[in-house]
Amino acid sequence: MKRETFSSGLAVFFATLGSAVGLGNIWKFPYLTGQYGGGAFLAVYFLCILFVGLPVMLGEFYIGRKTRKNAVGALNQLKPGTSWKYIGIMGALSSYLIMFFYSCVAGWVYFYLFKAIKGDFAGITMAAAKTQFGEVIMGPLSPIVWQFIVMAVVASILAMGVKDGIEKITKTLMPLLFVLIIICDIRALTLPGAMEGINFLFQVDFSKLTAAAVLTALGLAFFKLSLGMGTMITYGSYFTQDNNLFGTATKVALSDTLVSLLAGIAIFPTVFSFGMEPSAGPGLLFMTIPLVFSQIPFGNVLLVAFFFLTSIAATTAMLSLVEVPLAYLNEERGVSRPKAAIINAVIIASIGILATLSVDKASLLGSYTFLGRGFFDWFDYISSNILLPVGGLLIAIFIGYIVKKEDIKREMSNNGKLNIDFVFNVYYFILRYVTPALLLIVFLNSIGIIKF
Ligand code: TRP
Repeated sequence: MKRETFSSGLAVFFATLGSAVGLGNIWKFPYLTGQYGGGAFLAVYFLCILFVGLPVMLGEFYIGRKTRKNAVGALNQLKPGTSWKYIGIMGALSSYLIMFFYSCVAGWVYFYLFKAIKGDFAGITMAAAKTQFGEVIMGPLSPIVWQFIVMAVVASILAMGVKDGIEKITKTLMPLLFVLIIICDIRALTLPGAMEGINFLFQVDFSKLTAAAVLTALGLAFFKLSLGMGTMITYGSYFTQDNNLFGTATKVALSDTLVSLLAGIAIFPTVFSFGMEPSAGPGLLFMTIPLVFSQIPFGNVLLVAFFFLTSIAATTAMLSLVEVPLAYLNEERGVSRPKAAIINAVIIASIGILATLSVDKASLLGSYTFLGRGFFDWFDYISSNILLPVGGLLIAIFIGYIVKKEDIKREMSNNGKLNIDFVFNVYYFILRYVTPALLLIVFLNSIGIIKF
C-alpha cells in the first residue's frame, strides 16, 4: 500500500499549524505572559522562536520528509542499528505523558463549550465564575466523562487517516478558528478600558524580566511549536515532495505566534476592563472569559464561539500528539490505523484519569503526591521540562553533528531546485552552536543543576 501524504502545500500548512496552535496559545500563553510581566516576556519569546524553535522544527521536517517514516523508523533509517532511534521512542513516551494532562484540560474546554451552549454563564458573577470552575475540575465523574469524549473524537478523526482525517479536519477548522478569534478580538478591543490590556501585552519593560521568565519563554516556544518529541518528524513525513521546508517552518511559526497574540488581545483587555488580575494562573481563561462575555451584548454567542475555537485548537493539536505513537504502531508493528487509534485512546483515557483526579489538592487523588507533585503536575513536569528539551537537544545534535551537511541541504533545497544557500548557512550555524547551548542551559536549570 502506498504511504499517504498531504495533498497540497496548503494542506501541509494547515495541518502543521493545527498541531502548533492549541491550548498552548489560548490557555498557557496568556496566563504565562500575565504572570511574567507582558511585553518583555513576549520579546524574549520571539527570540526563542527564532534561535531554538525554528531550527529544531526544520531539523524535524528534514528527518521526516527525507525518510517518510514514523519517528522511530525515521531515525533507524538514517542511522541504522544505533541508539538514535531512542529519540523516537522517547517521543512516543512524551506524547503519552502530555496527552494524559492535555486531554484533561481539553475535557474542561469541551465541558465549557457545552455549558456555554446551555446558557450556564448568563449573568454570572465573579464569585460564581470561580465556583463553576471549581465544580468543573473537581467532578469527580464529569471531567472524566469529558476526557473520554475528547479521546473518542480524536481517535475517530485519526482512524480516518492522514488525508481523510487530519487534512480534512484541519483544512476546514483552522480558517474558522481565525475568523472566530478575530470576532472575539473586535469585541474585546471595543470594551471601555481595553487599551490598558493592550499596553500590558505590548509594553516592553525589561526591568520586569527574571531568569525564570527567560527559561519559561524557551519552554513555551518549544511546547507551542510541538517540538522535541517527533510530532514534526511524523508530520514532515507526510509533506509533499516539492514543499519548501524553510517556507513552511517560517509561516507556521509566524501564524502560530499571531494566534497567540490574537488570543492575548481577546483576553487581556477584558481582564483589565473588568478589573481582574492578569496573573491568575491556569484558571485565567476559564474564570475570566465567561464572566466578561456574560456582561456584554451578544455575550453568549461570543462565549460559544470562543470555547468552540478553543476546542478546535485543542483537538487539532491532539491529533498531532497521538499521531506519533499511532504511526509507530501502524508502520513498525503492523497494527491497522483504526485499531491503533483505539488502542492509543484507551491507554490515554485510562491513565489520564489519574491526571484528572489530581488537578487540585482537594481532588480525589490530590493527596497522592511524590516530592510535592501530584500526577497531573508530574506528567506536565517530566514531559515539558525534561523529555521535550532533551529530545530537542538530541535532535539538534543529530542534525548538526551526525547527519551529513550536504544531505540536509539537498533535502531542504528540494534537490537543488530552491536557492537556499544563504539561509541554509545561517541556519546550520545557529543549529550547531546556538540552539544546543540554549537548550542545555534550560534543561540543566529545569532539573536544578544550575540555578539562576
Ligand atoms: N503545540 C500544541 C499547543 O500549543 C501542543 C502540542 C501538540 C505539542 N503537539 C505537541 C507540544 C508536541 C509538544 C510536543 O498546545
